[in-house]
Amino acid sequence: MTNLTRTRILIFVLVALALGLVGTHLLLRDEAPLETLPASHGQPDPNLRPSIKTAPGSETEIKQWTAAPPRTPCVGPRGLDLGPENDDNPREKAIDIPYPRPFAGSHGLMGLSRTWMTAADRYGPYGWGDDKKTVAWSSVDWAALQNQCLERNAPRFKQPTPIQPERRFRMREAGEEVRMPVVEPQPDVPRTAIVFRAWEGYNYTAEDLVNLRATTAETALRFGGEYTVFLLVNVKDKDRNIFGSEQNYTRAVQELVPPEFQGMAVLFDETLLESWYPAIETHITTYQVMQPLQLFGHFYPEFDHFWQLELDLRFTGHAGRYLAAMSDFARAQPRKQAMERSTWFYIPEFHHGYADLLVAINASLEGGGGLGWGTKIDDFEPVGPRPPVDDPLEDNFAWGVGEEADFIAVGPCAHVQYMVDWAWRNWYQGLRAGTKTPRWMCQPAMGRASRTLLQAAHHAQAVQGLAVHSEATLSSFALWHGLKLVAPPHPVFQDPQWPLAKMNELYNGPGHVESHLEPGMAGMAHGAAIYDITPWAYVTTASSFWYSSPFPDKIYDAWLSRGPGNTSAEVPYVLWRSEDGSVYAPNMMLHPVKTNRNIVDLPAGPGPLLYVAIGGAVGLGLGLVGGGFWWWKRRSRGSYALLRKVDSE
Ligand SMILES: *[C@@H]1O[C@H](CO)[C@@H](O)[C@H](O)[C@H]1NC(C)=O
Ligand SMILES: *[C@@H]1O[C@H](CO)[C@@H](O)[C@H](O)[C@H]1NC(C)=O
Ligand SMILES: *[C@@H]1O[C@H](CO)[C@@H](O)[C@H](O)[C@H]1NC(C)=O
Repeated sequence: MTNLTRTRILIFVLVALALGLVGTHLLLRDEAPLETLPASHGQPDPNLRPSIKTAPGSETEIKQWTAAPPRTPCVGPRGLDLGPENDDNPREKAIDIPYPRPFAGSHGLMGLSRTWMTAADRYGPYGWGDDKKTVAWSSVDWAALQNQCLERNAPRFKQPTPIQPERRFRMREAGEEVRMPVVEPQPDVPRTAIVFRAWEGYNYTAEDLVNLRATTAETALRFGGEYTVFLLVNVKDKDRNIFGSEQNYTRAVQELVPPEFQGMAVLFDETLLESWYPAIETHITTYQVMQPLQLFGHFYPEFDHFWQLELDLRFTGHAGRYLAAMSDFARAQPRKQAMERSTWFYIPEFHHGYADLLVAINASLEGGGGLGWGTKIDDFEPVGPRPPVDDPLEDNFAWGVGEEADFIAVGPCAHVQYMVDWAWRNWYQGLRAGTKTPRWMCQPAMGRASRTLLQAAHHAQAVQGLAVHSEATLSSFALWHGLKLVAPPHPVFQDPQWPLAKMNELYNGPGHVESHLEPGMAGMAHGAAIYDITPWAYVTTASSFWYSSPFPDKIYDAWLSRGPGNTSAEVPYVLWRSEDGSVYAPNMMLHPVKTNRNIVDLPAGPGPLLYVAIGGAVGLGLGLVGGGFWWWKRRSRGSYALLRKVDSE
């Protein structure tokens, strides 16, 4: 190779690289730069000197069930009965300033308090900034506290089985049958497991510990045993052979889980998933994050519902009341058109009341039952209840009201068949109609599932080898079985904020609700930011609840680190700083919060960076092919010219 040739190749490579980058940039460029609102929009006035008071009981009380005996107060980590006056409770404040306005969802509609807390108000009772250590946290046993609480409240439950030290997960036995579930009548007071997804190698920082303590105290202990919190730990090192012996299992618990939570840890590894789901091609978290939860549902039948939560979820307000608000909202929803309603980012400024949104969706569907009404796929008989009337017009949105939801999504859902660039939109296994099967996707892969729903997914995977991707699993099974699915419109913030009309268009699609009539998608939101994720990623990645958004980190970091004495640094607009420098956060659910530097275990979707890389590589490849062709043409110019000459004669 001569020097000249080498220089030429180098030039080709450089030109191709530049072309790839420019092309990718053009492809991913914002269609039209949106005009952002002034940063102060929705922000409390920093110059106000309002009164800051303890929030009144009406804002902070825990709702009672009407049909059940009252709760007996439980003991907290300080050995005191938890009650409104106790030091073990977060100290919520009412501040006489306008509350920041979420762009979608609503505190009022959800029955969420419009309270404020500093990080010290919120986490002080759980050891945050504990100068004078009041509790020896490593000797607190959260499983024992939860069991004691359940025992005090046992008469309220049908099956008050406590957390037991014995391992329940085990391998599938040869020929062991798995049955399709039957829907059972709901007990008066359902029991709900809160399952935090953890893994070997997870670094439990101070932030994680206070988060877990707060969530456990505010759910299991404050709600009189209605919730039981677990850590579901993915043991990555199969050589630990945790199912080989009790000692192996116990040793792994001791090595992988902080002492105070060891009693509530449940361990699994991939061999367990392989044993139960041999026909499913993959058992890794990205594709099948629900498999361990399905097994949890199978082996813990004393629970009616199962919240799967990630460790990078944070509640800046009372965790128990937030989760209860989600299930209260879901319970009150009718079944008819619930699938369609679950697609909308509810924006009060455009949709007015949620009842108005329901009426508008109903108008697009001309009173029809929507996708969830009698849908049946080829692969099995649905286990959910049949509609009470044949003609949906005869059901005036009464069916399902007051019934627990089988799936509560934490974010709006999408119709997978119409998604353009969701990486796993064509990934499935065993569906007879293949990609023609309607599939429902709600991200992120968190939510609350009923035992019926988990058992139905468990059966399909264990017996039929039927699977879709993590984020589509439980929502699709709910659709296929005619089970109740609701995506409650909890408050979500956005920074930077674009004009609301623009955000409504990007999240929900153009036009008013009644004009959503596209075949196959009537009554559904169809926002470009959801269906065509990549080019619009700059919109979704500004949200306080989106898997790849940095906004939750900015909020959480500022809230935790910029207290009194750190008054110079700016805080995001949703926070409010008082005269003395204390930083207050409104009542929010944030995800993902990575301020503790733990890496993600579950890539929820390809980020824009991956697309830049793919675009660059494709551009480079094309450039190289083009360059190579040009080089070959030049080298063989002689014969080519001759051929042309011959041709023309
Ligand atoms: C875990 O977090 C602590 C505190 O942030 C940090 O000092 C430590 O290096 C982290 N360890 C790992 C393995 O990431
Ligand atoms: C739903 O639509 C049907 C048909 O247009 C109509 O008769 C019914 O009153 C509507 N229901 C509500 C609650 O809007
Ligand atoms: C003050 O805020 C900055 C962020 O702007 C943070 O990095 C720093 O740790 C804070 N300092 C203190 C003393 O909290």
